[in-house]
Amino acid sequence: MRQSLLELIKCPNCGSEKFFAEEKKSDKSELREGSVKCRECSESFSVKKGILDLLINPSEEIVKEQKGWTQDESANVNSKEFILSLPRPADKEHKEWWQEQADNYEMVLKRLALRGNETVLDVGAGRTWSTRDFAKKGCRAVGIDILREKFVGLECADYYLGGSVFFERVLADMNALPFKAKSFDVVFSTATLHHSSNLNECFGEISRVLKKNGKVVLVNEPTRGVLESKEFKHELVELGVNEHKYSLPEWLSAMKRNGFEVEVMMPRSVERMMETGKVKGDKKYKVFLGKIASFFWRIPGGKFLLKRMHIAGQLLVGLGVVIIGRKVRG
Ligand SMILES: C[S@@+](CC[C@H](N)C(=O)[O-])C[C@H]1O[C@@H](n2cnc3c(N)ncnc32)[C@H](O)[C@@H]1O
Ligand SMILES: [Zn+2]
Repeated sequence: MRQSLLELIKCPNCGSEKFFAEEKKSDKSELREGSVKCRECSESFSVKKGILDLLINPSEEIVKEQKGWTQDESANVNSKEFILSLPRPADKEHKEWWQEQADNYEMVLKRLALRGNETVLDVGAGRTWSTRDFAKKGCRAVGIDILREKFVGLECADYYLGGSVFFERVLADMNALPFKAKSFDVVFSTATLHHSSNLNECFGEISRVLKKNGKVVLVNEPTRGVLESKEFKHELVELGVNEHKYSLPEWLSAMKRNGFEVEVMMPRSVERMMETGKVKGDKKYKVFLGKIASFFWRIPGGKFLLKRMHIAGQLLVGLGVVIIGRKVRG
């Protein structure tokens, strides 16, 4: 944690914006061990391994989610090489799943065309590979998550930090962001906001911390198609992780209610499916519809038409969405 982070944070206890840091140990790039104290309520927040803990009194839901992730063996890939290779791991086991994530992530990053002078909040940064990318572009980047542990949480950052790459890591809840109003140019999130049980509250917070015309960028958020029920099975849910499948209209209305103008992009992963005809899906009817769409995609004029109809397709079968919102109100 660097002193400059104190310019962005808000006390999760009393709302004050005045702090001072107490240092126990620092290295050449940051304060590694110590604390941050609120000048108003005197609450003290620990800094361990450079991570500032602003997650005070976590809800039962958050505690359950923390336990769930640390128990999920497939998420805890105990390998430095794996962490360093994200979001494009080369090993067979992870390559295919991550390819979709990476394709959509890179598409959106290109679209954002960051200049490198933006202040970026990465919500649900997890292992922080995306926060690292914003920092590499020169942005002032802050990654938040509820997980600290190495191999799933913010401590993975130690593999990425160094040289000219620096970004902040803060333990915090996306539904109650401990940051000052109008602090960020971009709020980015991949595969995280669907863990919120209250999208309206979450977008309210994102809108509050964004500057006017600031952007919220969502990548790979699962959605529920019109033919799907709200109940669904997921092995992570059994471990306590808060998985939700909101429909596309639920995503869009929560965003619009909180002052965002929205654009739903056609995910690169879906384009790739159309191009190759290698259609995947968790239900037979989705694969069937996907194969028909892929057939039309490859005949003259088909691609042009389907590109214009992709939102209808997403509403119908519920795909991982990519949405950019611009804060126009509030
Ligand atoms: C599917 S993972 C995605 C992690 C990372 N963005 C990536 O793509 O590799 C979802 C992340 O959301 C985090 N998360 C869940 N609830 C959260 C909350 N209330 N506030 C902040 N992060 C949360 C989890 O700890 C987890 O790291
Ligand atoms: Zn305080």
